[in-house]
Amino acid sequence: MLSKFSLTALAVFSFCAHLHAQIKTKTSSAIDQKVDKLLSQMTLEEKIGQLNQYTSDRLSTGPLTPNSTKYQEIKDGKVGSMLNVRGAKETRTIQEMAMQSRLKIPLLFGLDVIHGYRVTFPIPLAEAASWDLNAIESSARVAATEAAASGIHWTFAPMVDIARDPRWGRVMEGAGEDPYLGSLIARARVQGFQGKGLGNLDAVMACAKHFAAYGAAIAGRDYNTVDMSDRQLWETYLPPFKAAVDAGAATFMNSFNELNGIPATGNAYLQRDILKGKWNYQGFVVSDWGSISEMVAHGFAKNNTDAARLAITAGSDMDMEGHAYLTGLPVLVKENKVDVALINDAVKRILRKKFELGLFDDPYRFSNESREKKVLNSAQNHQAALDVAEKSVVLLKNDNQLLPLSKSTKTIAVIGPLGKSSNDMKGFWSVEWENDHLVSPFEGLQNKLGKQTNLLYSQGCNINDTVRTGFADAVATARKADVIIMAVGEAFNMSGEAKSRANIHLPGVQEDLIKAIKATGKPVVVMIMAGRPLIFNWTADHADAILYTWWLGSEAGNAMANVLFGDYNPAGKLPMSFPRAEGQIPVFYSSKNTGRPSPNGQPALYRSSYLDIPNTPQYAFGYGLSYTNFSFADLKLNKSQITKNDDVTVSFTLKNTGKYAGEEVVQLYLQDVVASVTRPVKELKDFQKVYLKPGESKTISFAITREKLSFYDQKMNWTTEPGEFKLMIGNASDHILLQDKFELVD
Ligand code: BGC
Repeated sequence: MLSKFSLTALAVFSFCAHLHAQIKTKTSSAIDQKVDKLLSQMTLEEKIGQLNQYTSDRLSTGPLTPNSTKYQEIKDGKVGSMLNVRGAKETRTIQEMAMQSRLKIPLLFGLDVIHGYRVTFPIPLAEAASWDLNAIESSARVAATEAAASGIHWTFAPMVDIARDPRWGRVMEGAGEDPYLGSLIARARVQGFQGKGLGNLDAVMACAKHFAAYGAAIAGRDYNTVDMSDRQLWETYLPPFKAAVDAGAATFMNSFNELNGIPATGNAYLQRDILKGKWNYQGFVVSDWGSISEMVAHGFAKNNTDAARLAITAGSDMDMEGHAYLTGLPVLVKENKVDVALINDAVKRILRKKFELGLFDDPYRFSNESREKKVLNSAQNHQAALDVAEKSVVLLKNDNQLLPLSKSTKTIAVIGPLGKSSNDMKGFWSVEWENDHLVSPFEGLQNKLGKQTNLLYSQGCNINDTVRTGFADAVATARKADVIIMAVGEAFNMSGEAKSRANIHLPGVQEDLIKAIKATGKPVVVMIMAGRPLIFNWTADHADAILYTWWLGSEAGNAMANVLFGDYNPAGKLPMSFPRAEGQIPVFYSSKNTGRPSPNGQPALYRSSYLDIPNTPQYAFGYGLSYTNFSFADLKLNKSQITKNDDVTVSFTLKNTGKYAGEEVVQLYLQDVVASVTRPVKELKDFQKVYLKPGESKTISFAITREKLSFYDQKMNWTTEPGEFKLMIGNASDHILLQDKFELVD
């Protein structure tokens, strides 16, 4: 198993880790001494208490197990952490209970701060569409600053599950289909949450989840079984987790799914061999909600006590709402079925984080109401949310340069069920706040346009309607306008946890509404708000312009208006392929060729294709337009032949050939043409987001290092093999504009 570890990555990592270790040794060993001292004073019951996490009663993010004694248990030292508690006042009140316990060990307060806290940012999948790592990091930074000022120590984010099945509702929470992009985003998010390090008052612990392979649930059904080769696990699903470890993620969460017959929560291969073994991870692992006791339903554990044994043995340190450790572990230790050393190790990992956060110096240091008031909901945080929201929008179509719209357009009609919705803009997994203000698309347009523009509105239908009763009014409204902006898509709770859908077409009769409006002959811009790639083939063929806006958060409407009127030139690129039909799923760009590849993905006899539709997606990974155009030219490679220790430098000229200043995400893909294990037709290996003024050009270069040419060979060794490599540069995975090849020689 050890051979699976990337030696190259190890070399680079161990150098950084060495430096890091030198700086940290002093403080870490001081903390370790404190942890050991405290541990020596703890009873077995108190130790097990540290491994126990309960939810508050007021917010529940999973099936609730009634427990009327939980607050007494906190006072008795039987609880190490609470989730779903928030606010400086409330966290202080509950922390005061922990201070009544014998050893006064502070509680950790965890919450799903997934895309913003008080100010809501775009859903993570939307942010991934920005391909802008600084923006993504800044989003997590703002969320952390607000959450920490509100008493939170720990966010259950980032979710770094690779996801290739848009039926799975949780695609909204991750970074899409690609392990390279996903790894960079995992790092950016961890850095954003943890800021300058734990102990600072604006830093929260990150939690890389769900370890592992949760995103590969069969048929896209949430919590479902996962069965995959070790190769796929290592090539596709593990890299973002490794990136999170390297970025210093304080905690990990395991997952609900089983992996090849073994539930992740009881999976020693994942947690002991890989995470705490090969990756030498020093943080702690929390179970997912109830996932320890759920091993009984999986048919893996006989009862809760047995589940506790399996989980602690496999490396799950904290039991989130499973109610299995607190009662099970004492029995297991007594019966010699669990070595107390396993419990000690888990407790030490958790206590270490409490010391690092400074909670033993002051358990209330994050629970300060006046700081909370100052930090939350600031104009600066809204500005950051607006900035990220603009960057998350993807322009899918723009026939005859309909967009950007002119601000002197006389009459504009907003039509569709999401036009005046502010609530849906928050998206799933937002921290629910009373009176939070989210800007609807209509309101965003009102904010942007002066009195000279006549802004009309008709809802047309509800999101899930099967009736067309509102169509006539919508059509009549459209006839009065010069241009129509349609606001369609999903309600905020149609994607997210336990929100799998077998039919991912634009819901209800919304596409029929688009048809009816298009029939007026007026120019139609369709804005689609959703938490996943949807299917909307008719619209793709017939709408004049399409913006995929996802769920953009607090500043949604303002960001949309900025994009519609060209105050911001869209530059987003899809982080996930958009299928033409559910029957194609999973469809992703880094596929294999097969022995009978179909020509251009088109149906062909005795070829790997469908009879009824092309293999290609409606919109490919990496795709997204701009109001301007870019040319790619003059590809140059500094070498056409290299040895294992050389790098290749590739450069080309990017030019803005259009009328608007804008950004292009230039993407580098590679293919190892012949290898001892077949390789994908292309894999993203690098990208840059480049800003150019009209007429401006720039030389772009990429260094292709040995790491980028490596893969797991037949024995799962991370290696490079001599031979030809194809190099492709473009502005989408299916839009390669420059290509060449080079050879690696022995
Ligand atoms: C989800 C986790 C989440 C946890 C706590 C679970 O149902 O899978 O992602 O962090 O609940 O809310």
